[in-house]
Amino acid sequence: MYFFSIKSQNISIDQSFSNSRTLFSKHRRGRPHSKSNNDISNGVNQLSMLLPYLCKQKQQTKSMIQAKQIFKTYGNLEVLKGVDIEIERGSLVSIVGRSGSGKSTLLHILGTLDLPSSGQVILDGQDTAKLTAKQLASFRNQHIGFIFQFHHLLQEFSAVENAMFPLLIAGQSQKEASAKAKELLEYLGLGDRLDHKPSELSGGEQQRVAIARAMVNKPAILLADEPTGNLDQQTATDIHQLFLKLKADFGQTCVVVTHHTEMAALSDINYTMKDGRLL
Ligand SMILES: Nc1ncnc2c1ncn2[C@@H]1O[C@H](COP(=O)(O)OP(=O)(O)OP(=O)(O)O)[C@@H](O)[C@H]1O
Ligand SMILES: [Mg+2]
Repeated sequence: MYFFSIKSQNISIDQSFSNSRTLFSKHRRGRPHSKSNNDISNGVNQLSMLLPYLCKQKQQTKSMIQAKQIFKTYGNLEVLKGVDIEIERGSLVSIVGRSGSGKSTLLHILGTLDLPSSGQVILDGQDTAKLTAKQLASFRNQHIGFIFQFHHLLQEFSAVENAMFPLLIAGQSQKEASAKAKELLEYLGLGDRLDHKPSELSGGEQQRVAIARAMVNKPAILLADEPTGNLDQQTATDIHQLFLKLKADFGQTCVVVTHHTEMAALSDINYTMKDGRLL
């Protein structure tokens, strides 16, 4: 099962050791029992190669998203005026606020789709300003899933094809990507709509395909900009519940910009964006 092992993404140090133990025991299988000095020094070498990885796992920070003193200006227009936000791993955070207050601008900056005029964005312990453009694109592909209000599905492609794109971009084979996308769409209740194109899906179904596309890479961070803005109340409620389920099942860190008070009430923390500041 691909998708249902998503929690193993947050691999613990014990798991890392047990994985490396498995590697070592596989390595040893079929060898004579007596260990030569060479065996031991090989083991030490391999362990020392693993150490930076293991240490990195151990130093996992509590916060998944940290933004410090984010300012964003367009010409003379100051949209974000010093936003500070720290979001814990696995929490569901919502942001409400009047139209034009800067919610989407902030979400795009948190997701590295846009750069702040000044300020720092640290995701999963990584200062994003320290990455080259290529590294940033790869980091985004691996760590962040986006859900947009108007889902931006590719009209000429089916639900499965839309959902599997991030995996193809990450270099996986068509077969592998398709199997993973199907499994996830089935989890989202679209098992009988796999080959439908967006025009053959309802608004709520299209939004779920967009959620599948955002999640298929098992990103640690899911950012959603008014994901239920265009849906009727019942479908919106279903999608809100789905966010709770995703958080419970996969432990993802979700930030949702919304105008729905229902979504805000379901989240762990709700912020209000006002005049370019978070309250
Ligand atoms: N590329 C841009 N160039 C100039 N101004 C921009 C640009 N992008 C956004 N703005 C301005 O920044 C302000 C904040 O926009 P933003 O899209 O973040 O608002 P929002 O809170 O998401 O609003 P809504 O609820 O309507 O989606 C707006 O006044 C908008 O006109
Ligand atoms: Mg917006």
